Amino acid sequence: MITETNQACDLVIFGTKGDLARRKLLPALYKLEKSQKIHPDTRIIGAGRADWNTEDYIKVVKKAIKNFLNEKVDQNIWKKLSARLNFFNIDVFKDLYFLELKKILNAKKNIFIYYCAVPPNTFNAIFKGLGKVNLNSLPSRIIIEKPLGVSLETSKKINKQISKYFLESQIFRIDHYLGKESILNLLALRFSNSFFFHSWNNKIIDHIQITVSEEVGIENRWNYFDQMGQTRDMVQNHLLQILTIVSMDQPKNITPEDIRQEKLKILRSLKKIDLNEINVKTARGQYTSGIINGKTVPAYTEENGANKDSKTETFISIRVDIDNDRWFGVPFYLRTGKRLASKYSEIVIVFKKMSKNLFQKFNENLSPNKLIIRLEPNEGIKIEFLNKVPGLNKEYELKSDKMECKYPNNTKNFVDAYERLLFESMRGIQSLFVCRDEVEEAWKWIDPIINAWKKTTTSTVQLYKSGTWGPKNSDSLIMRDGRFWETFN
Ligand code: BG6
Repeated sequence: MITETNQACDLVIFGTKGDLARRKLLPALYKLEKSQKIHPDTRIIGAGRADWNTEDYIKVVKKAIKNFLNEKVDQNIWKKLSARLNFFNIDVFKDLYFLELKKILNAKKNIFIYYCAVPPNTFNAIFKGLGKVNLNSLPSRIIIEKPLGVSLETSKKINKQISKYFLESQIFRIDHYLGKESILNLLALRFSNSFFFHSWNNKIIDHIQITVSEEVGIENRWNYFDQMGQTRDMVQNHLLQILTIVSMDQPKNITPEDIRQEKLKILRSLKKIDLNEINVKTARGQYTSGIINGKTVPAYTEENGANKDSKTETFISIRVDIDNDRWFGVPFYLRTGKRLASKYSEIVIVFKKMSKNLFQKFNENLSPNKLIIRLEPNEGIKIEFLNKVPGLNKEYELKSDKMECKYPNNTKNFVDAYERLLFESMRGIQSLFVCRDEVEEAWKWIDPIINAWKKTTTSTVQLYKSGTWGPKNSDSLIMRDGRFWETFN
């Protein structure tokens, strides 16, 4: 039984042997099977260069699911999923293979969805190959994932290549953060609660911090990561996406077009950071060896395949200013890094202090009100506010108290980001995917930062020990403005 509107699809996974497919996509498909969200006639076609038949492929998928699914495999569900699997050996640089693929796809009347889980230098061969044999026409869809370029120019090139064969309405660009339950909940929090809705502006808010802290290092991805750095790998996409959702105006409706329009307005209002400001508005770091969870981990420059002289940043904090009426004078501080003390993502809204507080004279320091939105782990929100310290002799002494709400109350329905995004692509709904303009606007803001780093002689990448909260210059960045990073607890 299908519990949601869904369509019969042929999901072709290019790069089905790769890390992304094994770690994320295949376990997500199992979960969708479990929740009966896949149409009975849907087929999954693993495409890659291997001398495998479908039976071999089924064994590979079984192993991947066993290794990467965070629950025990149920044999009935596996049976259903494995019945959908097919393997197609393909050399994407040869047209002949696409003609063969066409025969397989034409055997049914399903909607074709192509997932490019391959390095971007293979994208164009796939777009072209599909286009040449007319496998690109509507209602087919194509899913691509970052890195969508390393600069505005290279990202435009990918967009130009894909747009030769596919319309924007067929292109699903994944930023997996947009599939996370807690990110989606941000929309609900902001736009359905009047006390948040009406206080979301520069009259009430002092500043906003967004932290995405990781414990992992670069996980054997030296070549990829060293040309990206944390700014391109995490800020250009995930952190800017969070920033736009936190700061955008209310969309007219909850439709893909209206949401994208509001997000775009924010991306276009980001104040550019130039050479003059690069040292005060950005702080970069690179991890050295240290201890995480009781284990010694190597320095970035000692990772597998590393170039010992690399100056690539594995940590970045940035002060962002948004040039519009709502946020005039409210800085957003973004911070993200690898091999930090703990894995967590959080948004902290720090409210302005009262201009006149009657209790000030009885207290040395009154902390501001804060709204802390924990995106992961232990998703939830906390509100910090002032209360009187009880007792006779403590007449007007105040202390900061916390009110906490864990989200969700019921973890049963908590879905993984890829599960949700695959589901949405099967339904053909683009709200949770990033459009061409968003990607390009984000690069327009990131490029000048990276160029300024290349030009400056004074901004350096400061070393920080693995298992700490990053380099000292990140603390200086926020303290210069008389503020402090919210500590993790
Ligand atoms: C990916 C980055 O997009 O996101 C990785 O390429 C990063 O470097 C990962 O580790 C973080 O994702 P999550 O969901 O674990 O926060």
